[in-house]
Amino acid sequence: EAELYSLYKGVYVPSNLHHPQSLQNYEDFTFRRDDVIIVTYPKSGTTWMKEIVPLVVSRGDPASVETLQNWDRVPWLEENRAWDLELENRPSPRIFATHFHYNMMPQGFFKVIYVMRNPKDVFTSSFHYYGIASFLVHPGSQGEFLQKFLDGKVMFGSWFDHVKGWLNAEDKERIMYISYEEMIMDLKDSVTRIAQFLEKPLESEVIEKIAECCLFKNMKQNKMSNYSAAPREFLDQRKSEFLRKGIAGDWKNQLTSDEAEYFDSVYKVTMKDAKFLPVETN
Ligand code: PPS
Repeated sequence: EAELYSLYKGVYVPSNLHHPQSLQNYEDFTFRRDDVIIVTYPKSGTTWMKEIVPLVVSRGDPASVETLQNWDRVPWLEENRAWDLELENRPSPRIFATHFHYNMMPQGFFKVIYVMRNPKDVFTSSFHYYGIASFLVHPGSQGEFLQKFLDGKVMFGSWFDHVKGWLNAEDKERIMYISYEEMIMDLKDSVTRIAQFLEKPLESEVIEKIAECCLFKNMKQNKMSNYSAAPREFLDQRKSEFLRKGIAGDWKNQLTSDEAEYFDSVYKVTMKDAKFLPVETN
């Protein structure tokens, strides 16, 4: 663990992807007023948003989602990789992603889309992902990983702290909150809301086209979005694909009833002081 993760402001970050310099660059970064930042706890819908937001910004023009790998199209600002991309030369509005907690954010951001997901599904998706990613500590048994997840001893720390920090943020008008489950339930409505937030009102045909393009089955076919270009030594997708199932409620196939009950009891206590109820856990 000591080798694979480093501690940054109290949370683990994978050392391979985050050198001290990239974290420093991010801290010193100057945002533009119209930069859009997709913020997520890992496995909550980042990749999905990295498809939707560029399409909204381009009013449905698929050029960027057809030609740029999603990690370059919407770079994670905390990662080493971002700082080779000459971000200052990108036209506005630039689109970024981050897994940072609210209290880790550098000053001066304006537009954030915060995506949250049922934490039991985040756990389930993480459990599979930690088993295929060479830069993450192997999950061990499901029971062991559950305890680590609930204790926040995983990359980017505790789901509870992440979600509460962002929900309790004071500057709400700069933040749009949306859940993975809402996107599953009504993708067209979600795209419409995102377009409104970004002040890019779109015609209904364009909304429909974007939603269609961002369906799980279609994203799975897009080589710029399905992580097929990620090297095997980095992600071994023979065991589990990055775009794994793409559904809400898969925790029911993963957690035992005792584990689910335990999860709920921790959730109840830990989320007491959240300003509003984030996501259904059932
Ligand atoms: S990461 O590593 O933090 O960037 O992962 P992230 O992209 O946040 O989360 C991966 C999960 O999101 C699912 N996904 C989707 N679900 C539905 N529709 C679409 N279009 C879609 N794209 C990605 C992906 O399958 C992972 O969830 P699981 O439950 O493992 O399938």
